[in-house]
Amino acid sequence: MSSTASKKSLNINNINPHVKEAKYAVRGELAIKSEEYRAKLRKLKQEGPPTPPTDSGLPFDTVISANIGNPQQLDQKPITFFRQVLSLLEYPNLLDHDDVLLQHLDYKQDAVDRARWLIKEIGSVGAYSQSTGVPAIRESVAKYIERRDGFPADPSNIYLSAGASSGVNTLMNVMCANEKVGILIPIPQYPLYTATLSVLNARCCPYYLDEASGWGTDMETIKKSYEDAKANGTDVRAIVVINPGNPTGASLPRSDIESIIKFAAENQLVVMADEVYQTNVFIGEFFSFKKVLRELQRDNPGKDGQEGPYDHVELASLHSISKGMVGECGHRGGYFELIGFDKEVTEQIYKFISIMLCPPVIGQCAVEMMVNPPKEGDPSWELYHKEYTGIAEGLKTRATALYKAFKEMEGVEISEPQGSMYLFPTIHIPEKAQKAAEEKGKKPDEFYCLELLDATGICVVPGSGFGQKPGTLHFRTTFLAPGTDWVGRITKFHKEFLDQYR
Ligand SMILES: Cc1ncc(COP(=O)(O)O)c(C=O)c1O
Repeated sequence: MSSTASKKSLNINNINPHVKEAKYAVRGELAIKSEEYRAKLRKLKQEGPPTPPTDSGLPFDTVISANIGNPQQLDQKPITFFRQVLSLLEYPNLLDHDDVLLQHLDYKQDAVDRARWLIKEIGSVGAYSQSTGVPAIRESVAKYIERRDGFPADPSNIYLSAGASSGVNTLMNVMCANEKVGILIPIPQYPLYTATLSVLNARCCPYYLDEASGWGTDMETIKKSYEDAKANGTDVRAIVVINPGNPTGASLPRSDIESIIKFAAENQLVVMADEVYQTNVFIGEFFSFKKVLRELQRDNPGKDGQEGPYDHVELASLHSISKGMVGECGHRGGYFELIGFDKEVTEQIYKFISIMLCPPVIGQCAVEMMVNPPKEGDPSWELYHKEYTGIAEGLKTRATALYKAFKEMEGVEISEPQGSMYLFPTIHIPEKAQKAAEEKGKKPDEFYCLELLDATGICVVPGSGFGQKPGTLHFRTTFLAPGTDWVGRITKFHKEFLDQYR
């Protein structure tokens, strides 16, 4: 350590303490370690001649990043139509050579037409757009929502964003007026929510999801959590719901959604519906909050010129290009739709997003294609459909393979995967292993995941990173990695781990 006083303005003791408090396990210690392993293996390969895996000193020759829903990092191929259009937007001079595009480079006429239309609407993708996004793209989003829900959507209620994360950040910044404000957050949850609340020095009011009912929402639990928060002096402003769930993989039945809206209506809470996995549904059907809200409003009209019981509900629903079969998370595109918000509040939301100028314009264009993909009969349809269904089937196959493997494993309990990109099994960790964890200063689930990484190269996230009921332990894995042989690596590790610590 240097004896001279530091000349730096910033040190760990004088930066924003709320940033230090925020936790985001998805990219935490395990992810960093897995990247070190990956770099080590890559270096050995580059130094060639080909070395057997043992030369690395590691008992595996590949690292599997099952810690993060990052589809294209894990070999999911981009959808051709999307990339063809984006390539033309980035380099419009290509549009002077239709013949080359169509005859030699496999572009289809509808991709060329879409790019021309977007350029006409946007100008250059290198220019800032309006703060809420390109008007024509917001119109496409509104039409998509109308087709999805069967109820009108107003483009002026659509805010394009740099992924759903940016939308969540905007909404939470606006809602969290002071340190007494709290938001009901499902536990387990995607840690964006708790981390953002920490940064804003606002309160997380946790409500546990019900593992026994496939991670559904239990209204009694939510009510209790709300009452407890109020009793602590918390000014509860909103309830977050992630549907389909991360990390749970649950897809909520319509009745759960209806109950949440009714509860929000009674208690004047904003509903924040994180619906980024809306196309990742294997079992049952996706019900959007917007549709259920509109049905409730339609079926319960106000009488004698009065408002109906659900007319005042404020709903923010978020979607993204990052997930689903699109998987374009690196392009940072998404949107949120606001229903029922006070005009003066939306003006402040508009100002807040204006401070960031605009979401990435290429990401906005990817949103346009997500909500308005090729239709049956269009020249690009056949390939688009083949690619889209191929990705969807691959996800389902891998989810099922993992689910079956977990079901067979001793001391592991797992709900059937219904949607999203994750499985979140319960693990029972023997006492001896819990002691070993304690000696290393780790939580038992962290210890398990670190051992799994060291033994197999597979990186998953301990349940403690998402929150879990006291006394229970889990881990979350994505099922995005190609093939299913890595599932065998987990099974083998798990057996050896139990044998070691029995
Ligand atoms: C539930 C949930 N919401 C939001 C996000 C953030 O998505 P985006 O890439 O659109 O910011 C994620 C990413 O994994 C997520 O799982």
